[in-house]
Amino acid sequence: DTTAATHSLIEAFRTAGQGQVFAFFDQLDEVGREKLLAQAATIDLAEVNALVLEHVQGDAGHGLDVTSLEPAAYIAHPAQGGDVAKWDVAWVAGAKALRAGRVAAFTVAGGQGTRLGYAGPKGTYPVTPVTQKTLFQVFAEKLLRSGERFGVTIPWFILTSEINNDATIAAFEAADFFGLERDSVHFIVQGLVPAVDYEGKILLADKGTIAMTPDGHGGSLRALVRSGAVDVMQQLGIDIVSYFQVDNPVVQCIDPSFIGFHVLGQSELSSKMVPKAYALEKVGVFCQQDGRALVVEYSDLPEQLQEETTAEGGIRFNGGSVAIHIFDRAFIARAGGAGADSKLPFHRADKKIPFVDAAGQLVNPEQANGVKFEMFVFDALPLAENPVIIEAAREDDFSPVKNAEGLDSPQTCQEDQLRMFARWLNAAGEPIETDASRLPQVRFEISPRFAVDQADFVARWAALASKPAIEEGVVIGD
Ligand code: UD1
Repeated sequence: DTTAATHSLIEAFRTAGQGQVFAFFDQLDEVGREKLLAQAATIDLAEVNALVLEHVQGDAGHGLDVTSLEPAAYIAHPAQGGDVAKWDVAWVAGAKALRAGRVAAFTVAGGQGTRLGYAGPKGTYPVTPVTQKTLFQVFAEKLLRSGERFGVTIPWFILTSEINNDATIAAFEAADFFGLERDSVHFIVQGLVPAVDYEGKILLADKGTIAMTPDGHGGSLRALVRSGAVDVMQQLGIDIVSYFQVDNPVVQCIDPSFIGFHVLGQSELSSKMVPKAYALEKVGVFCQQDGRALVVEYSDLPEQLQEETTAEGGIRFNGGSVAIHIFDRAFIARAGGAGADSKLPFHRADKKIPFVDAAGQLVNPEQANGVKFEMFVFDALPLAENPVIIEAAREDDFSPVKNAEGLDSPQTCQEDQLRMFARWLNAAGEPIETDASRLPQVRFEISPRFAVDQADFVARWAALASKPAIEEGVVIGD
């Protein structure tokens, strides 16, 4: 009986001290009531109450004891004194896993992307210097080329949220999936958690809508489990999941060496680190403590530690996290599963959250008025056995689009792409003119369909019967 079910749902909110969610229920029409009830039914009240107790009413300190923190050990990049032979062995092992069809790609794209000031799903943002391919198209073409290189179809899992899932799927439809096999693309919708005020009360965005936000990229693990994607992976014979963020088009979506180190190390969760650009750079830092690896957000790491130097004068806590990982599938099932010990912690973020007050007026606060809760995927690191961390070259893996202007903007990202193309040409024996910052003087593009990394480019360029002149607007390989 629906009225009984409705009654008990509303009663459960009242009992939990969250009855205000239904304050305007009587003013809603039938459709509005159904919508609010459906939204309320997705909320895990016990989880919300526990979050409020811990993070809003309690002192939110995670009790991270920074005194025993040490920088995490990592495998050095060949250009930074790493063992070249080891990297070659890793490449071969990664290529073998790829050819065996064990690898899938996983992009987290469920975020709201508010900083960029762009309304659509972030993956539909144009990023390449000449043809203005979108982030999603760049990743799609990289996966096509990597699949071609290793003779397989690489399945692609994409994390969306309620907020952008329909628009994301529509963008793929409109582009005919960028040439990918439709069956190989899997959209996973992540969960939402309600936002609360400083009394721990769930906020309403309007009279019939609860203010809810995605549960963080850490929510990707439980989304993969709950949606059945982990089972799909198992059926497909996938046990290696290459994870990257939607905001970073230069990432090597499929990096054979990284995969190889992950496999050879029997790692459950592997990560790429890049040396920090400067001591106070706003990135998470790879640390170790009590024999476990962990990432500490810069905001949780005292400045004194961030600025500490080594005997040689380098930055001691140097391991910047660029949010590029490889997950073992069975580990995802464990860390994203329901077991009490496997849950990732939530973090508190104080935000300006527009809300409807008790009088039914919409308020747009000028200061933070409430709390959103997010899980961070790197909190899975301490749960993982045999974590492997390898050093990456920033220019080969990391140039995110986060802000409309300045640092990590569309402009810096396009320039980094151009520098990368120039390096590849140089390695292929085709040096082109650049300025002091190594930025080429012409805007051109190397299609991800043609080559996904320097070695790939050098081989394919050498095999080209007629080589295009590098001029303004040239696109190699489309
Ligand atoms: C993040 C990392 C930071 C790292 C940096 C590298 C955190 C807290 N910090 O910062 O350590 O150095 O990236 O670029 O993560 N996303 C979801 N669902 C969500 C929230 C986010 O899918 O609920 C996705 C976004 O779509 C995006 C990615 O996660 O692809 C990163 O989110 P964002 O909030 O922009 O992270 P940053 O603060 O930039």
